[in-house]
Amino acid sequence: MILPCGKKTLTAFAAFAAIWVPVGAETLHVATPGTSLVLEATEGAPLKFVYYGERLGAADVDAMMASAPRTLDAYPVFGLGALRETAMSVTHPDGNMTLDMSVSGVSESDGADGSHTVTVSMSDKHYPFGIDVNYRTYPDADVVETWVEAVNKGKGTVLLREFASAYLPIRRSDVHLTSFYGAWGNECRMEEKRLPHGMVVINNRDGVRNSHTSHAEVMFSLDGQPDERNGRTIGAALCYSGNYNLRIDTGSSDFHDFFAGINDTHSAYNLKKGERFATPPLALTYSNEGKSGVSRNFHRWGRNHRLAHGTDLRKILLNSWEGVYFDINEQGMAQMMADIAGMGGELFVMDDGWFGAKYPRNNDVSSLGDWTVDTRKLPAGIAGLCAQAEKNGIRFGIWIEPEMVNSVSELYDTHPEYIVKPTNRPLRQGRGGTQLVLDMSNPKVQDLVFGVVDTLLTKYPQLDYIKWDANAPIMNHGSQYLSADEQSHFAVEYHRGFAKTLDRIRAKYPDVTIQACASGGGRANWGVLPWFDEFWVSDNTDAQQRVFMQWGTSHFFPSVAMASHISAAPNHQTHRTIPLKYRIDVAMSGRLGMEIQPKNMTDEEIAMCRKAIAEYKQVRPVVQQGDLYRLLSPYDGKGVASLMYVSPAKDEAVYYWWRLNNDVNPQLPRVTMAGLDPDALYTVHELNSIDKEPLPYEGKSFTGRYLMSNGLEFPERHNVEYSTLNDYCSYVLQLKKK
Ligand code: GLA
Repeated sequence: MILPCGKKTLTAFAAFAAIWVPVGAETLHVATPGTSLVLEATEGAPLKFVYYGERLGAADVDAMMASAPRTLDAYPVFGLGALRETAMSVTHPDGNMTLDMSVSGVSESDGADGSHTVTVSMSDKHYPFGIDVNYRTYPDADVVETWVEAVNKGKGTVLLREFASAYLPIRRSDVHLTSFYGAWGNECRMEEKRLPHGMVVINNRDGVRNSHTSHAEVMFSLDGQPDERNGRTIGAALCYSGNYNLRIDTGSSDFHDFFAGINDTHSAYNLKKGERFATPPLALTYSNEGKSGVSRNFHRWGRNHRLAHGTDLRKILLNSWEGVYFDINEQGMAQMMADIAGMGGELFVMDDGWFGAKYPRNNDVSSLGDWTVDTRKLPAGIAGLCAQAEKNGIRFGIWIEPEMVNSVSELYDTHPEYIVKPTNRPLRQGRGGTQLVLDMSNPKVQDLVFGVVDTLLTKYPQLDYIKWDANAPIMNHGSQYLSADEQSHFAVEYHRGFAKTLDRIRAKYPDVTIQACASGGGRANWGVLPWFDEFWVSDNTDAQQRVFMQWGTSHFFPSVAMASHISAAPNHQTHRTIPLKYRIDVAMSGRLGMEIQPKNMTDEEIAMCRKAIAEYKQVRPVVQQGDLYRLLSPYDGKGVASLMYVSPAKDEAVYYWWRLNNDVNPQLPRVTMAGLDPDALYTVHELNSIDKEPLPYEGKSFTGRYLMSNGLEFPERHNVEYSTLNDYCSYVLQLKKK
């Protein structure tokens, strides 16, 4: 679609053919269906930022360009002019540390995926150094992906010291920041605060896992306290698998200066003659429907354009970890497969403990790297397990941790040169006291890691699913492969090697489902999701803590990617005893699975899970592909959390209500719904019901208007036998348009 545009205004929207536009003073209108980013590209001058927000019509763009100031560079560089934070700084071969960039051209291109990219090329006024600033859009998504490519056009080496992906100025008013922090077992906790003066820095230094301690995604609520339903809100996600750095500087100007990119600390990069350095993209969106609006924009973009198989429904699985841990054997696997098949599950995943010949993997101190099946535990091998799965009418998947090695392994015995390690230093070892990281910057290691997956999938084409784990940080900074002057490239080169390897795997095996696990939720980032179908939200499967973690995670990631499993009580991480009904109701709000030993469950529990799985299959398209409306936050301390998914056609919805404490007479708020068609009639049906009497509105129909303005009341306690009363209460409703 070509949009009407004023004179000298280039409105960029997917569906142009590749063209080169000569520049005078050009207005660049990078438009998505609901948002506009407006820039001014004048030949010989720096690229200027003018506007980012709600979609503008041509008349407003023209009027704005005739009147708005052009004070802000769209990609600020270091050295000349005002001393603000910058996105890029370099040292030229002669020692000059400044950049003086100006626009030299604008080009456009269309991608095979329907995307459209505008590239503004800038050149230094004196030195042979260029920066291409890119903006990619899609016709059906309100997200702009922006990144830069630095090019050394000279003969000497240029040192890149700072290399952010993007800069966005955010006009000061009463801007609040939503960000995410955490730790192992407590990933993606939400934090909200008014942006303070000075600098807010959110960064990651793990080297391998980048979403345990903090997240590379933030939201800015522009007009005061963050709100789920209303208000101008910007969302930003750095799409990268490695260390990142987000900075928000609030100084003496009228703007909060937001920068996002690779964490360049300890990572100065020597850009050789002719070399091009591409940063990862920052994905940006804007919504005036509050934080949930931003989430829906990200989910839609992600499902349609970024997540592997984002528009496909996911299978319901049983993963063996919490059921048997390392105690893998043929009989146990067969029993678990039969049990999950009997409950209506569709896939069984064998976790850690299945491999190692010379060194059997009986615990976490050995064997990573030796990806041969341990035939003492599994005499019929993986082929036997695949056959067993087929017999049960389900699919089979397997756990690997291919970037890692134990110092007790045949791989380490034969290739100690493959590990990440600086010269002249004793090794620090991770998990089990023996875990080390393989040097993904080394092409031989890339081949090896590709080979692990390639061998498995070639030998056992029936394998349907891979759980790809990564359980160690970089503790020995240094590469045995890179040269002395490339040591500071290591963090970047590790992730280039990781990307190359995953690209090769996906080129050969586009259909296999791959889960990103990294000590739980260490790889929940849009940078890895083009190769992965989903991620493990956390090793903590406690349903109540999951309400908080999944709430945070849902801000940027769709439920189809959020692996959410029913586990045992007492919970193995918190030792809290949560009734099965509540565990099911929480797990059913994401990609449902099980993480439990079914043989320890009672017949009644098995029956309840069988029923829940059958009901989940009914609502799976809405849960996994619907629009998310977060309604009442667990972080608000109101005693209840609630959210819902609505199908794009608004003809079906699934509503969740979870109580969070057990006070008497808690005076809980009634939660109003959202996202429904006000004029449609919806019939209410409770899923996973355990009460003696149905809810009073079971089978009754209400207009969307009533449900959104009034909402439904929920009993504070379940109506069950006195002896089975407990301190948890939750409800899941299916709403169907009449
Ligand atoms: C990590 C993962 C777990 C499990 C174990 C196996 O901790 O997060 O889910 O796979 O490794 O060792």
